This record gives sequence, C-alpha cells and structure tokens, in this order.
Amino acid sequence: MADDTSIFIGASRKPDDSYQRAEHLLLQYGNRHGLVTGATGTGKTVTLQILAEGFSNAGVPVFCADIKGDLSGIAMMGTAQDFLVKRAEQVKLDPYDFQEFPVIFWDLFGEQGHPIRATVSEMGPLLLSRLMNLTEAQEGIMNIAFRLADEEGLLLLDMKDLQALLANIAERADELGSRYGNVTKPSVGAIQRTLLVLEQQGAAHFFGEPALRIADIMRITRDGRGAISVLAADKLMMNPRLYATFLLWLMSELFEVLPEVGDPDRPKLVFFFDEAHLLFEDAPKVLIDRVEQVVRLIRSKGVGVYFVTQNPLDVPETVLAQLGNRVQHALRAYTPREQKAVKTAAETFRPNPDFDCATAITQLGTGEALVSTLETKGVPSMVQRTLIRPPASRLGPITPAERQKLIQESPVAGQYDQVVDRESAFEMLRKKAKEAQDAEEQAQQADSGRSRWTIPGFGNDDPAPQPGGRRAPAPRPSNRQTVAEAAIKSVVRSVGSSVGRAIVRGILGSLSRGR
Ligand SMILES: Nc1ncnc2c1ncn2[C@@H]1O[C@H](COP(=O)(O)OP(=O)(O)OP(=O)(O)O)[C@@H](O)[C@H]1O
Ligand SMILES: [Mg+2]
Repeated sequence: MADDTSIFIGASRKPDDSYQRAEHLLLQYGNRHGLVTGATGTGKTVTLQILAEGFSNAGVPVFCADIKGDLSGIAMMGTAQDFLVKRAEQVKLDPYDFQEFPVIFWDLFGEQGHPIRATVSEMGPLLLSRLMNLTEAQEGIMNIAFRLADEEGLLLLDMKDLQALLANIAERADELGSRYGNVTKPSVGAIQRTLLVLEQQGAAHFFGEPALRIADIMRITRDGRGAISVLAADKLMMNPRLYATFLLWLMSELFEVLPEVGDPDRPKLVFFFDEAHLLFEDAPKVLIDRVEQVVRLIRSKGVGVYFVTQNPLDVPETVLAQLGNRVQHALRAYTPREQKAVKTAAETFRPNPDFDCATAITQLGTGEALVSTLETKGVPSMVQRTLIRPPASRLGPITPAERQKLIQESPVAGQYDQVVDRESAFEMLRKKAKEAQDAEEQAQQADSGRSRWTIPGFGNDDPAPQPGGRRAPAPRPSNRQTVAEAAIKSVVRSVGSSVGRAIVRGILGSLSRGR
C-alpha cells in the first residue's frame, strides 16, 4: 500500500462513515513541516509514532522527545491486540505487519539514555539568557562575557567555565564597565545567582563535553532505515525552559551543520517537537522571530519540523503558516478559548464540501483526525476525516530492563557516557589567578627579603632613590602579573581564533548576522 515515495497515514471516511481512500504524506514534502494537535488522549502520540515509523522505514532519521515515556515502545515489536487489528482492517492495512524500530535513547540527565551535552559556547548568549530568564540588561552582560571569552581565548565549555568567567568579570567590573558600559558588580552577581539556580535544577549535566555530534542523530541502519532518536523528556518537563532551549539549540545546530539540499526527494531528518507550546510560552518576540526564521530556513537543509501540541493557538501564526502537513485530532469546545481554537483550526484547512470542519473537530473519535497533507506542487490537500493507522511497533512504554539492554547495544554506546573535562576557561582563569598570586608572593618575599637583610646606611642591593638619579628596577607585582597574563594570552590566542568564532556566534546568532 505504502510505496517508496510516501507514508501511509490512514484512511479517510465518506460522509456515511464508510471507507473512502488511503491517505498519505508525500516524503517529497516531508521537509515542509507539520502540525499535530488535539486534546489530551485523542491520539497525538500514536500519530507521532506512526509518522516516525514511516519516516524511519523510508530511510529518514527521526528525532523526537518522549514526554510521558509512552513513545519508547517504538523500539519494540508490536503485538496483535484486538482493537489494533480492527483498526488495521478499517483502514485496509493489509498485511498488518509488526516491526521493531532502530531506536537510540537519549537523556539530558544521562539516566534513561545516552547523555546529550552541548558546550556553553555552542549554546550562545541568546539561548542561555533565555534559559536563565535574564533581563535585557543582564543579557547585555552575557553578550559581553561571550565577547570577552572570545577576545581572551577562554574556552567556555561547562557551567564552571561560565561561573569562573562571570567571577572574573565581577572583579573587573570597573574596567569592563568603562569599556563596554553597563557592567556592574551587582548585575553580574545577579546572573551568577541565576546560574546557581540553573545548576541546582540539573542543567549542569547538559553543559560540557563530549558534546553531541549531529551525525549521531542522523544514522541510517545497514538495512536502510533511519534511526529514531528518542529523548527521555519526563524529567526534563519539570524544567520546561531547559527543554525548549535544548530543542531550539538542536534545531539551530542542525541549521548550521547541514548543507543546503534544495528540494530533496525525502527529508534528511525529521524532528518532532512535542509539547511545542513550551517553546512559545511567554517567549520574547525576538525569540519567536528567531524560531520562525529557523523553521523557515531549515527546510532547505532537508529538515522537517513537526510541532505537536494540544491547542493550535499555542503556535504563533507566523510559525503556523509554515506547517504544511496537518493532523488535527479532536478538540473540546466548551470554553470561549476552546471554541476559538476549534474555529482557528478549522479555518486553516482547505475546506471539504462533505462536512463542516469546525463541527467535525469536536466529533472526532480517538485516533481519528482531520488530515491535510501537501500534494502536487506543494498545495495542501482538501481536508479529510481520517482514521489513523495503528502502529507496527508496541503501543505504550518499554520496561526499564528493555531500555537498558537497548542502551548497551546502541551504536553510540560508550561514546558519551563519560564526561571529559579538558582545560577551559575555569582552569585557565584559575591558573591565571594562581600565577598572579605567585607573582605577588614572590614580590612580597623579595621585598621582605630585602628588608630582612638590609642594614640602612651600610649600602646594599636596594639603593634608595637618588634625587634625579636612576632607581634600580625593583620587581613590582603588577608588572609580573601583566607579563604572565600576556604570555597566557598569546598562547591561548593561537587556539583561540577558531574556537573564538564559535564562542561569539551564539545560538541562532549567525541568523541575526544577516543571513
Ligand atoms: N491510530 C490509532 N490506532 C489505534 N488506537 C489508537 C490510535 N490512536 C490512539 N489510539 C488509542 O488512544 C490512546 C491514546 O492515544 P495517545 O496516547 O496517542 O493520545 P495523546 O493525544 O497523545 O494523549 P496525551 O495528550 O494525554 O498525551 C492510545 O493509547 C490508543 O489506545
Ligand atoms: Mg501523548
């Protein structure tokens, strides 16, 4: 039924509720993004599951977040439960084959999957500020911090590095304030405290090395199926800001790393963004604009982004307008806001004379949806009332033992499990401080040495200044400090130039610089 150019989604129904025809998502338009919405329990996760299965079978790697753990079953073979078999018959899925999929489990906390990390510099000032909910003024300081790290060749990898850099900036607040403006000790202190809170919430796990290699989420199995990366997000959900920031970071990494591909016959990667409302909830306009930009531009890199959320009103209109493939599950329409959501959702479809969209949305059964995909020339198909196919993999979660086994057997086993803590800003600044301190101690020793051995009036190695005469250059601490600093700078500069760019570019920063 499903051929090599499309994914079978389910079967549309005639007005008398009998079978009408098979509905597909054309792989060719898989990178034109999509939207899956519906009230709780209406079938969004299963829809996500069957779409992920379809992309994987078509050789397209998938990245998705597993909010409740119930998507993890995609790694296991499904079983013939009555209601699934019945659904298969209703949608004329024959044969209904069960299948397990090549899954790589990931977890920002490293518990339910391989740890995913990014460096602070990869995250960049914009996303970090958003993650920490900084004020505009504080964000300004964050920008200065990144610039400074770049100028001084300080690698920003983990939280320690950022803390050390901020401490250093606080110490030099006066000097930096006169250079960049707006740097004061209290404002830097406020950022430091926010950073501590972030660390306590477990974000420290996420920052550091080895950082995620994008290639590892774009794997294809030997038999030509796309790997499905499943991110454990149940714990992550308790820190929605980290969740949103992480996914945004990943999207912008993809954007930066992947080459332009124009219009591929199938996507290079598909990205499912579950609980998508978290991305936009009280997000500043500038961030929403960036999301809109990334979503628009990432298409030409062959990446399809599918937002999954309860309410279509959760997604800003500018983003909504770019989501070509739509699966709308049932919505309730009790409150005015719900009624508005139904109306909005209905209006986004190309109408079907057979039924009224708004009415249908409130009447859809579980695992049933209004579906419109992009057809020839990328035009949205007329909306169809569609029964979604049952999954080939297991419905519901896997057991912890099954998960552990899959983690051990995964192609990235051992690659990310240990943190690597190489020399970076924290160590460099500590070394610098130590050298400065040593220099000072030496100078003091020299001073005290002289005073211990000097007998005034008897002449010694420390002549008193002569009026108009030359004074022997006594070693001054400040002098040595500068020399030591300069030496370090020149060493780190040489490695600094390439990392430097990475540091200042900031996340999505490249976009703001006129692409
Ligand atoms: N396509 C389908 N075929 C067969 N059964 C389905 C299908 N879609 C959904 N169901 C049934 O409905 C149940 C709920 O679906 P699902 O978990 O996808 O809802 P959801 O919208 O993700 O809910 P929540 O918002 O609570 O996460 C499933 O466990 C399954 O029993
Ligand atoms: Mg769900």
